[in-house]
Amino acid sequence: MDATVEIRQKPLGKLDELPRCRLMSGETPLEEMTNMAGRLGPARLFVKRDDLTGPAFGGNKVRQLEFYIGEAEAQGADTVLITGAVQSNFVRLAAASARMRGMDCHIQLEERVPKNDPIYRNSGNVLIDKILGATLHSYPDGEDETGADANLGEIARGLKADGKRPYIIHLSPGHAPLGALGYVDAARELVAQCEAAGIALSEVVLASGSGHTHGGMLFGLRALGHEARVTGVCVRRDAGQQFGRISNRCEEIAALLEMDNPVVPEDDIVLADVYLAPGYGQLNDAIIAAMKLAAETEAMITDPVYTAKAMCGFIDRAKAADEGQAIVFLHTGGTPAIFGYERDLGVAFGAET
Ligand SMILES: Cc1ncc(COP(=O)(O)O)c(C=O)c1O
Repeated sequence: MDATVEIRQKPLGKLDELPRCRLMSGETPLEEMTNMAGRLGPARLFVKRDDLTGPAFGGNKVRQLEFYIGEAEAQGADTVLITGAVQSNFVRLAAASARMRGMDCHIQLEERVPKNDPIYRNSGNVLIDKILGATLHSYPDGEDETGADANLGEIARGLKADGKRPYIIHLSPGHAPLGALGYVDAARELVAQCEAAGIALSEVVLASGSGHTHGGMLFGLRALGHEARVTGVCVRRDAGQQFGRISNRCEEIAALLEMDNPVVPEDDIVLADVYLAPGYGQLNDAIIAAMKLAAETEAMITDPVYTAKAMCGFIDRAKAADEGQAIVFLHTGGTPAIFGYERDLGVAFGAET
């Protein structure tokens, strides 16, 4: 059998047996970034275009939602409930995925970023949530995952009383990390693409938030026997806190797939949190510089919350790399948020006042 087909079909525990529905348009491209490499050093640089996953401006969450919506359908649900930050990409894509499968969506927006800007509250992802016809709720705390989930539970009870069949996508720990499975599968796709193109993959750099993308990609690569380093750039919590989260994710993935987990040794969990300050969803100078570099070299648009922070970490890794290394930036999407952050970005990019 052709080596790339073999990688794509390699069984990873129960991965291919769990409920799933197709939301992606197909595989996402792996593109070489020669202009950026010309600026950053001798390594070969690539971008895995998970901003092009398909519906409603795409992003990493589409891969994850294939498993959540798949489970919702298996349970006969007709309404999806989800919670997130005001400019959350996950909730936007949950609404889009629900619509694609003929369901309704209730979105709870949390006060996670200290911003009273009406553009932040109405444009970007929020506008798309509304265009998709999602029902919006608000939650006053942005750091209370258990409370946010409990409130979703309340909304779900109300919906049930009205004869609806709700399905909750939980935020707090302690729930099966179905979303991470999307990235276990993405590891197969990436390794097969590298194999087909003769790329000796040495590292993947990605944004590490809930840890589904990070944990899934790391677990997937190791389960395939691939040793590429995975650098998670912290966007929400510092490296100390995020380490425990990724470690737990890997164990939860192993349990879900019914696989052993010395698959991911703890030394393989690599995190960088130098670009986190001043906090989740807040800008710093490095973010603006990274957005400029990505746009001016590769016409790549990154967002200030996730992908530009990850790009800061990628730039550091590229500068430190040797010739012969091949580093992949996982572009996880999030681009609609730039319109929610129009005021801050307008200042940095010379808007007229
Ligand atoms: C654009 C984007 N990139 C990266 C992430 C982080 O992914 P994860 O939550 O799987 O760690 C998110 C999370 O919402 C996101 O919206």
